[in-house]
Amino acid sequence: MKKYTLHIHKDAEATSRAAAAAAVAIAQEAIENHGKFFFVLSGGSTPRRLYELLARAPLRQQVDWSRVEFFWGDERPVPPDDPQSNYRMAREALLGPLDIPETQIHRMQGELPNLEAAAEAYQNEIAQALGSPQLGEPPSFDLVLLGLGEDAHTASLFPATPALLETQRWVTRNPVLKLNSERLTLTAMILNRAHNIFFLVTGDKKAQPLADVLKGQIDTQRLPAQVIRPAGGKVQWFADEAAASKLEETEKQPGGGNVSDEQAT
Ligand code: 6PG
Repeated sequence: MKKYTLHIHKDAEATSRAAAAAAVAIAQEAIENHGKFFFVLSGGSTPRRLYELLARAPLRQQVDWSRVEFFWGDERPVPPDDPQSNYRMAREALLGPLDIPETQIHRMQGELPNLEAAAEAYQNEIAQALGSPQLGEPPSFDLVLLGLGEDAHTASLFPATPALLETQRWVTRNPVLKLNSERLTLTAMILNRAHNIFFLVTGDKKAQPLADVLKGQIDTQRLPAQVIRPAGGKVQWFADEAAASKLEETEKQPGGGNVSDEQAT
């Protein structure tokens, strides 16, 4: 049986604050344990506030940012200065304000014409930065931030797309027909090796996908976020009341209460 912890807060600001503080605690523990914090950033719009909170007092002063290595869970097929770029959002909200050196920033090269080659290069970059345990097993990130799409996608693992079936590669190109586009994405293979995974989900448009993912039948082709079932890692969902509004009352404790729930594998 898989466990996760669900934290519900009043609104997006409170949810972002709770997740940011929890991320700092994990960063401190990782740096204490192995001298580094391997941090996978999410794209989309929801995490922007969390990044802004990390980059300013009081949280800014609570992490030795020189020990943090930044990665992405996915990227769009655009240059790094494109408004659609996940890298660009993180640079604006977090990396720039913290003045993080390029050597600590591991950007997915979504601008490359050949995303298969870009995926392979990124897998090599991860292996170089984190080491590659024996038997080709993917290494473990300390914290992976993820969002949830209205179609229950996460990273760029979209419903009924090939990347959902990838069992060897850690990073892959993923054609997304409904977007008439393709993406770069980490696969469940490496995501599920993470020590900690946060989902950050806010707003009433996410209420149905959140309820489907947490309480619906397991159907990873239709509900991709359900592929996130780390064997040894801990999954924490940070949701505001709007996003949690379709969860059963039994699961909710007002004011950010923590509930943990069993989710069938
Ligand atoms: C992306 C993200 C994606 C995102 C969800 C939610 O590249 O868009 O990786 O998985 O987390 O689509 O996006 P919002 O936070 O904008 O709702």
